Amino acid sequence: MFDTRQLVAAETLAPFWKGLQSSAPYRPAADWLISSPYHRPTDLSGLSIEALAEPVRLETLFTQRSLLLNRLLFNVYEQNNLYLPTERFSEEDTRAFHGFYEPGFVAANAVMRPALENTCFDFLSRELSVQGPWTVETLEAYCTERLRAYEASPSETCRRVQASDCPQEAARLFLLQVAPDFISEASQMARALPGNFGPVHSELMKIFIDEFGYGVHPKKHSTLFEKTLESVGLSSRVHTYYYWYLPSSLVMTSYFHWITSHKPRWFEYVGALYWIEAVVPHFNRQYSKLLKAVFGRDGVDTLYFDEHVGIDIHHRRMAFDKLIRPMVQLYGESVIPAMVRGIEASRLLGDVAERDFLAQMDFCDALHSGQATPASPGDLSRAEERPRGYFLEPQVCDRDTVLAVAQGEVEVDGGYLRPRVLKAGEALQVPAGRMVGARVVGEGARLFVGAAPPAVRG
Ligand SMILES: [Fe+2]
Ligand SMILES: [Fe+2]
Repeated sequence: MFDTRQLVAAETLAPFWKGLQSSAPYRPAADWLISSPYHRPTDLSGLSIEALAEPVRLETLFTQRSLLLNRLLFNVYEQNNLYLPTERFSEEDTRAFHGFYEPGFVAANAVMRPALENTCFDFLSRELSVQGPWTVETLEAYCTERLRAYEASPSETCRRVQASDCPQEAARLFLLQVAPDFISEASQMARALPGNFGPVHSELMKIFIDEFGYGVHPKKHSTLFEKTLESVGLSSRVHTYYYWYLPSSLVMTSYFHWITSHKPRWFEYVGALYWIEAVVPHFNRQYSKLLKAVFGRDGVDTLYFDEHVGIDIHHRRMAFDKLIRPMVQLYGESVIPAMVRGIEASRLLGDVAERDFLAQMDFCDALHSGQATPASPGDLSRAEERPRGYFLEPQVCDRDTVLAVAQGEVEVDGGYLRPRVLKAGEALQVPAGRMVGARVVGEGARLFVGAAPPAVRG
């Protein structure tokens, strides 16, 4: 009923796409930080609706098209989340609040959703294998073995952050990548709760209650995460760092919205939930230790991470014994492949997110240590005049890219929230797949942004 290619070809979606391209919540920002939760820069102006017809593949996940489509899909789901200002509504807040949740805007987003889901999640079905035969015993053995293997090796993310030249910035960059999920933690689980689906409904509710701090606001997991952010000098305002969410971070968060909103994916959700709860204790123990090592024992609030070390051992047991096992008993072994699919999808998305994060961290390290310089700054005569304040929004470079300053000063960042200033004659090379943003400071500048010259092979 909702064939993306047909709808795109018939131009059925075109008016909605056009509306979104010029919508206020998606307009670009003028600076690095986003000051309102209702402002979600998603520049669709250069993206034709045909971009939806071509599914994002694993090989094209770290591209600008993928970033924009994943920002859009994330925002579509986020319209289900209520965000309120932390203080009295200003006139501007009121306008933005009503704008983000305006029924016409919500409807235009919603009508794009099935097409976006096809485009953004299609790669999962190509990458995953859930071949059986399965029984609850083989499933349990498979889970135990996967988990044993996961817990057998220390986290590469933690090792590399600690070894970074800028460990504090790298540790913060990681927090930014989990923010799309943690800032509204378990909102996807909340999507799974309406209805009436037997005893497992109440078991899921038990996990949900823990995630929401059993009604005690300071204990709510998203509140604990806010405290961690604030303790390392980051803002806890909703999506302040939206510009730095990598495509893999967005797709990971959206995946859980997808499998909880698309009800036939319930069994997949239970598998995915199990895996996420299962891997958290091992990782969080290490990340808590890392945060203390990097910021000093008294300098950081690690309760978010510490709390999960304990509670998620409990949650992973609940997910298996109270959700997975009784459902296999009730519905039979035919529901197991979907559960395995959820586990495998979470594993894959976790691996991809780690790869994306580490590559971005390496780029940021190189940028800040002055090592990301191209062999040649390219043809500076092609540099264009840019006024003071000109802002090149953080974006993913589809190919190796050179950013060169012919005149004036330009600050450049890759997500360390500490832009490096490039002066006239200086240039930066950005590897394909990496995110970069720039802003002209001072009295305007002449700036070149374009493909890096091909490397000379000896
Ligand atoms: Fe949690
Ligand atoms: Fe949990």
